Parts: sequence; structure tokens; C-alpha cells
Amino acid sequence: MQTHLLEIIYLIGSITFILGLKMLSHPDSARKGNLVAAAGMILAIVGTIFFYEDADHNKLGNYIWIFGGLIIGTVAGFFAAKKVQMTAMPEMVSLFNGMGGACAAIISIVELRHFFHHYNETEILGSSYPLLRGDIMTMVLGLIIGSVSFAGSMIAWGKLNGKVKDFAFPAQHIINIVLMIGVFALGGVLMFSGITAAYTWMYLILFVALVYGVLFVLPIGGADMPVVISLLNSFTGVAAACGGFLYHNSVMLTGGILVGSAGTILTILMCKAMNRSLLNVIIGSFGGSSTGSAVAGAAGDIREITMNDTAVLLSYSKKVIIVPGYGLAVAQAQHVCHELEKALEEKGVEVKYAIHPVAGRMPGHMNVLLAEADVPYPKLVEMEEINPEFSSTDVVMVIGANDVVNPAAKRDTSSPIYGMPVLDVENATTTIVMKRGMAKGYAGIENELFFEPKTRMLFGDAKATLQKLVAEVKAV
Ligand code: TAP
Repeated sequence: MQTHLLEIIYLIGSITFILGLKMLSHPDSARKGNLVAAAGMILAIVGTIFFYEDADHNKLGNYIWIFGGLIIGTVAGFFAAKKVQMTAMPEMVSLFNGMGGACAAIISIVELRHFFHHYNETEILGSSYPLLRGDIMTMVLGLIIGSVSFAGSMIAWGKLNGKVKDFAFPAQHIINIVLMIGVFALGGVLMFSGITAAYTWMYLILFVALVYGVLFVLPIGGADMPVVISLLNSFTGVAAACGGFLYHNSVMLTGGILVGSAGTILTILMCKAMNRSLLNVIIGSFGGSSTGSAVAGAAGDIREITMNDTAVLLSYSKKVIIVPGYGLAVAQAQHVCHELEKALEEKGVEVKYAIHPVAGRMPGHMNVLLAEADVPYPKLVEMEEINPEFSSTDVVMVIGANDVVNPAAKRDTSSPIYGMPVLDVENATTTIVMKRGMAKGYAGIENELFFEPKTRMLFGDAKATLQKLVAEVKAV
């Protein structure tokens, strides 16, 4: 009876995961989607704790340990999520993802030990138990993928918070390929080894997988981390799905598969939006420092604009499009940006935001940032939809964006970003670029937009500049 109840609970949990994921695809329903999936997860956990029974009708027990862990984890997760800055979100996702990978690896180790304890050598190696080898394979896969995900995520987390530096070493790709093939080969050996040797193989696999996870992520450019984190996220999902197979647990299987496939799709979408292959992200040196400063005038002369002229130009425009970028997020200027939008609208100016799919440093970065400042969703217009509108726009305000408005992506076949879809801001009557200096963006390349005759540069930190600009606009 209890087993049937648990199956129903797992079914409800699985449905909430699917519904939650679907709701995450729209900003209006995303918050609710997150809560729906979280409620399903709580239901699945509580159901497992109280209704799980093994074949001999033994219940879980160990309640002090279980609830002790749950309370510590919940409190730590709650406060971490409450205090995290939006710009540090990829860092936190990476840390939490690493924990998921570690759990999957630990499950495999514990279950492999149980397994070898429970069956004798003849049963495992004998042909009458072919399914047992399948179980071992599932555990070995969970161990490898979970360990790689854990070690890789920890390095990604260290890189994002500046504790770990990019580190390239000679023949790194060859060493990594050898390690990857080696760890799966060791898994194959374990599957067909006797029990005594199996323990040695298991710990060797754990060691090699951890080393591989570290060496796989170490050479990747720090700024490429969001793509790598998404990839590692999908690894964790697959590792969790292995646990689902092992325990014949449908909700764990569904959750793992959803995380695995969503992570894979997100990785592909991010690569596509940057016009780069996954291989290029993994082995390319693109996306290093974003602080290098360009030589002013290298591509011509720049024209500055004063605060007062900007305010007048904006106030007497019919239509203004704001292009937010990474710099807006760094400066935490989203609220004052919304104020500028409202001040202009009070003067009868139509204001929209142009959202590039990879503006900022994480998927949906600009949407989340502007939602935080209560900018209405209908004002956020996706790239394909807004591009035709630039030619009928009086002023485009580029705030802390660089690569996503670089026309070289369309014109210069030798540019590393050639082929990446960009916002056609140069088609507007005037483009004003707000940034602190002439530093390059994430791709580390010059932006010819800054030198075009219709472009004006308004230098300064996005937040401080916008605050002054709002005051000037109100005074016009
Ligand atoms: P970027 O090309 O990175 O340019 C940001 C610009 O903001 C910089 O040139 C910088 O110039 C300026 N800036 C920095 N701090 C500022 C501040 N406090 N006030 C004003 N300006 C400031 O940004 P983007 O146009 O948003 O492009 C995003 C890039 O990241 C793309 O190349 C994309 O491929 C990459 N990427 C995105 C993702 C995702 S998922 N979004 C993931 C990985 C990589 P100054 O220093 O001169 O001010």
C-alpha cells in the first residue's frame, strides 16, 4: 500500500518538474514555475523519508541524520540564495551543481560497496546474472560523471570568484582526452573484475575522474564559465538519472533526465547565440580578459557627447531604444535605468529595451536584471523582433554593452565574433554609448561602432552617469 502511495507521490513530483520547467520558459510564469517544481521536490523527499520500504518492508530510519542534514542544507541554501548578487549567480549555480555531482558520485560509491557486499563473486561474474553487470555499469557511470561534474564545478566556482586562475599546460588537450578514455576504460575493467580487485578499481576511477574534472575546466577561459557550468549541469543531471535507474526511482530519473536535457539544450543555445561551437568553447582561448583597453583612435576618432546634450537629444526624441549589457549589471544600474525610462515616457517618448540573447554573463541576465527593477516585460524586446525597429529610432542608448552591438560580427570575416547575431544599433539616427572608457568587451576585440560618425560616447560608470542623466532629463 505504502509503495503504491509512494509511486503516486513520485508521479506527482515528476509532473510538477515538467510543468515547472515549462513555466520557466516565460518570465511571467518563471517564479511560479520554480515554486511548483520545488513543491514537487519537497513532496518527493518527504514521501521517500516516510513511505519508502525495501523488499523486506524495512523503512528508512536514521531520522536524526536525515533531518539533521535536511535542516543544515535548507538553512545554508536559503541564506546563500537570499544574499547572492545577481552577477554572482553563475558562481552559486556552479557551487550547488558541484554538490549535486558529489551526491551522485557518493551514491555510486555507497551502492557499489553494498553490491559487492551483498553478492558473491560467482553471482556477479556468472552468466546467470547478466542484469547485475548492468547495475554495476549504471553505478560506474554515476561515479564517473558525478565526480567529473563535482571537480569541474568546483574549479568553475573558484574561477568565477577569482580564487582560481586560468591555467593552460603543455599538451593539455591530449592529456585530457587520454584521461577521459582512461576513466571509461577503467569502468569497463571494473565491470568484469572480481570483487576484491573491484574496490581498487572503484577508488582509482574516482581519483582519475576527479583529476579529469579539474584538468578539463582549468584551461577554459574564465569568461566562458557560464557555458561550461551549463554543460556540467547537464552532466549532474545524467549522473542523477543513473541513480534513478539504480533505485528504480521514477522521480529521480525524471528529474535527472530533465536537468540533463535542459542543460544540454541551454549549452547548445548559448554556443549558437555566440556563433561558436562547443569544441571552440572547450579548447578555444576566446573570452579571456575583458579589461584590456583599446587604443583610442585605432579605428578612427571618437566623438564625445555632454550630459546636457544627451538629455536634450533624448527628451526631444520620439522613440528611444535602450540596449543593456554586462556593464549595466556590474554597475547595478537597472533601477536608475528604469527611472530614465519613466522620465522619458513622461515627456511622451516611446521607450523600449533591446535584449540580446547573450548580453551579460548568464542566460536571461538582462531579463532578470530589468525584472528586478520592475521594468514591464512587454518593454523587453528580443533581438530578432527589435532589429527592424532601429532604422525608425531616434536615439539608441547602449548602456554597458559592447560585443552585442559590434557590427564587425556582420562585416569582418576575420573577426572572432563574425557570424554572431548582433543588434543593428548603427541603423538608428544617433547611437549613444555609455561606458567608462575604451575597454574591450568579453571577446577582447575593438568595436568599430564607437568610431562611426553617428555614434556619440558618454563616458562614466553606468549608475553614476544615469543618475545625473535622469536629473538632467527631468530639468529639460
Ligand atoms: P561585453 O561585451 O562584455 O562589454 C561590457 C562593457 O561594459 C565593457 O566594454 C565595459 O567597458 C563596460 N562596463 C563595464 N563596467 C561598466 C560600468 N560600471 N559602467 C559602464 N560600463 C561598464 O558585454 P555585452 O555586450 O553584454 O556582451 C556579453 C558578452 O559576454 C558577449 O561576448 C557574450 O558572448 C559573452 N558571454 C555571454 C554569456 C551569456 S549566457 N550571457 C555567457 C558567456 C559569455 P568599460 O570597461 O570601458 O566601461
